[in-house]
Amino acid sequence: MVLFVDRAIVIGAGVMGARIAEVLALNNVNVTLRDVDDAALARGRKTIEGDLDGLVAFQAGKAARAIQEFESKSGVALTAEQKAKAAETLKPNFDAKRKEKLLAKITFTTGWEGCDKADLVIEAAPENPALKKKIFAELITKVPEHTVLASNTSTLSITDLAASLPSARRGRFLGVHFFNPPTTLPLIEIIPGIESRADIVEDVVNFLAPLRNHRYPLIPIQVKECPGFLVNRILGPMLAEAFACYEEGIAKPKDIDLAMQTGAGFPMGPLALADLVGLDVIQHAAKSIREQQGGVVAQRPVQIINQLVAAGRLGQKSGRGFFEYNRDA
Ligand SMILES: NC(=O)c1ccc[n+]([C@@H]2O[C@H](COP(=O)([O-])OP(=O)(O)OC[C@H]3O[C@@H](n4cnc5c(N)ncnc54)[C@H](O)[C@@H]3O)[C@@H](O)[C@H]2O)c1
Repeated sequence: MVLFVDRAIVIGAGVMGARIAEVLALNNVNVTLRDVDDAALARGRKTIEGDLDGLVAFQAGKAARAIQEFESKSGVALTAEQKAKAAETLKPNFDAKRKEKLLAKITFTTGWEGCDKADLVIEAAPENPALKKKIFAELITKVPEHTVLASNTSTLSITDLAASLPSARRGRFLGVHFFNPPTTLPLIEIIPGIESRADIVEDVVNFLAPLRNHRYPLIPIQVKECPGFLVNRILGPMLAEAFACYEEGIAKPKDIDLAMQTGAGFPMGPLALADLVGLDVIQHAAKSIREQQGGVVAQRPVQIINQLVAAGRLGQKSGRGFFEYNRDA
């Protein structure tokens, strides 16, 4: 089976939902963006319009920027003819007309328009399991049987959310976790619950893989269900350690970030990253992950490093670690 998505429903027009709708519409999918709050819908629309205005302006200035950069680097002034040629080659591929076309693909609503034709639902309502279950219980009375149901939850158990659905619907339910902002970050964690059907999971990956956001092709990665999934599971302990260094005054806050950027190659320091995500969001995610893990998890000795070292796989220096390196290249 191949999942063909002509119409998607995005539930919640907040931080994530509005931009998930934007990415889908950018890829020619008809979208219903549903919220229960008119003001949230208006904010969502404003966010999308702002992104698209920015894109139109960026594209409109592409040729002028390239000409200016060339002239300032080379010290050579281009002729009017050369400038016209550059403008033709670098003409905008996103303009006001495309913006309007994209916006017309999104129905902003507090109602259920389009739900009877939905192929895919992505729920991006607040991180509250009871609320999400209530939303899905209502949704299944509005969408066809073939509709794939997905949650953008960052921390909740996909299997637990699916368990509130009738058993016939559980196979078509999974986690589709976008990152903030989905318009520029390409990763999507695809998390099957224990009852998600493998063919449905594969279909969702195949549907998302050819799509693009404003900057990159989307990157769906399948992740086994676990507290925090993949990114937040790794990020959580690292952030906790950065917060502890802050609290213990190990270094000045700006130096904690600078150290990780310049010493560990991070594009952004952990404290600035935490500020970007929102400290309330981090607090809530940490609590939810801790609860699922059943309290404090003792640091268990990880065997894989001992095994790799014993096998002589020391990383780049020996040509093989977790990955293989071609030392002749
Ligand atoms: N914010 C992030 O950085 C981020 C990143 C990845 C995933 N997530 C996840 O995405 C989901 C949404 O997070 P957010 O930050 O966009 O939340 P948000 O609070 O910004 O937006 C949620 C929206 O859902 C609406 N809503 C509430 N009840 C509703 C209902 N019954 N039907 C329809 N809409 C309803 C609210 O009015 C609000 O506009 C959460 O599960 C969160 O864990 C968030």
